[in-house]
Amino acid sequence: MTHLPNSLQARDIAHVLHPYTNLVKHEKAGPLVIERGKGIYVYDDSGKEYIEGMAGLWCAGLGFDEPALVDAAVEQMRKLPFYHTFGHKSAGPVIDLAEKLKSLSPVPVSKVFFVNSGSEANDTQMKFIWYYNNAIGRPKKKTILSRQRGYHGVTIASGSLTGLPANHRAFDLPIAGVKHVDCPHYYRNAEPGESEAEYTARLARNLDEFIQREGPDTVAAFFAEPVLGAGGVIVPPAGYYPAMQAVLRKYDILSVSDEVICGFGRTGNVWGSQTLDYQPDLISCAKQLSSAYLPIAACLISEPVYEAIRDQSGTIGTFGHGFTYGGHPVSAAVALRTLQIYEERNIYAHVAAVAPHFQARLRRLADHPLVGEARGVGLIGAVELVANKTTRQNFDPAKAVGATCAAFAQEEGLIQRSLAGDALAFCPPMIITESEIDEMFDRFERALARTEAWISAEGLRPAA
Ligand SMILES: Cc1ncc(COP(=O)(O)O)c(C=O)c1O
Repeated sequence: MTHLPNSLQARDIAHVLHPYTNLVKHEKAGPLVIERGKGIYVYDDSGKEYIEGMAGLWCAGLGFDEPALVDAAVEQMRKLPFYHTFGHKSAGPVIDLAEKLKSLSPVPVSKVFFVNSGSEANDTQMKFIWYYNNAIGRPKKKTILSRQRGYHGVTIASGSLTGLPANHRAFDLPIAGVKHVDCPHYYRNAEPGESEAEYTARLARNLDEFIQREGPDTVAAFFAEPVLGAGGVIVPPAGYYPAMQAVLRKYDILSVSDEVICGFGRTGNVWGSQTLDYQPDLISCAKQLSSAYLPIAACLISEPVYEAIRDQSGTIGTFGHGFTYGGHPVSAAVALRTLQIYEERNIYAHVAAVAPHFQARLRRLADHPLVGEARGVGLIGAVELVANKTTRQNFDPAKAVGATCAAFAQEEGLIQRSLAGDALAFCPPMIITESEIDEMFDRFERALARTEAWISAEGLRPAA
């Protein structure tokens, strides 16, 4: 596609390096420039309307034009546009937000440490865990476990926790000391005839054996998203977390719930770990914490971890970690207002009320000849496109079937993400109504029909 000289598209190609983008293709295709938002909708620079079926990047829970958040930002900007929390300094919104997060936490929390992104939160948790084990005299207990297809960010540490090849390949990741265990995807990974309970028991056994091989005194922590998001929206089978946690507790291994997507209502409870029956020691959260209107993320840490860190910092003379913008007062004021709005407007109850309709429309897609599995919980879900429903064979990744379906969806006025394995994700703003859910799936069904027609025309289905 050629773009007019000096158009936003041409200037973007000339000047912007895009994350998670095929940069070769981008030089031809250029960007979709989004200009404004309203509720669950965004509008491009030609005025075309789209349902934001991903709430941006699983984050704009209150949609795209919430004036109360703008007011909270402006008010705090006028009062104190920046301050920090280094060296015994603080600011009111940071204190209020820490207190609020502790009151919302599903497990006892001692302190809240603020950062700017999900990646920084998980990176920081790893440092806390290493510092903690050094402080309590366990210098060998350092290996961190996460899962294949888990997503925890892109910094050197959090990108190592992430279990997706595209985040490792050519980046020299993962670093030593991070190891990946089974992805709990029953549809893809269960043995023929294996029940969910048997599958779960096998994963727990595998974890136990893995820890035994590594040496229990070398394994420090296990990171998990309650529902794996960017890895394909994978909901582990019932009983999975209790079984995994029993193994972790046996070896005194800390568990970290990465609530960056699931936190603040997405799965129908405040926390994904509540929905999935998981009681972590530490929690990372971000995204819907401020409905993504400003960057802010947090690490919620337990009393034993805090006490060890406190004592070690006393011995060393300081706790040598922190980000300039961690606990930014404007971000904290917006986050606090966001959490208040979730409660004032009953957003958590709203998600629980509309989720059955969302899940029913999602699961109806399982009857489509292209859909191998339709899966999800609360207001998050995905459909996995397959070449053969019986054998569950995937399409050749080079054919980019998922990306093509997402491109058709975009033409139909729906923004979606195509994830690894041709999974198309749905994670709309939590304010979505039942009729908007219908409109979203209607648009997707049209995109799916066009994908089916394209697959037939291109002869992309392997011969049975
Ligand atoms: C579960 C999870 N953890 C961490 C991250 C990384 O967050 P960020 O992109 O803010 O660094 C993400 C981002 O999508 C995520 O989904």
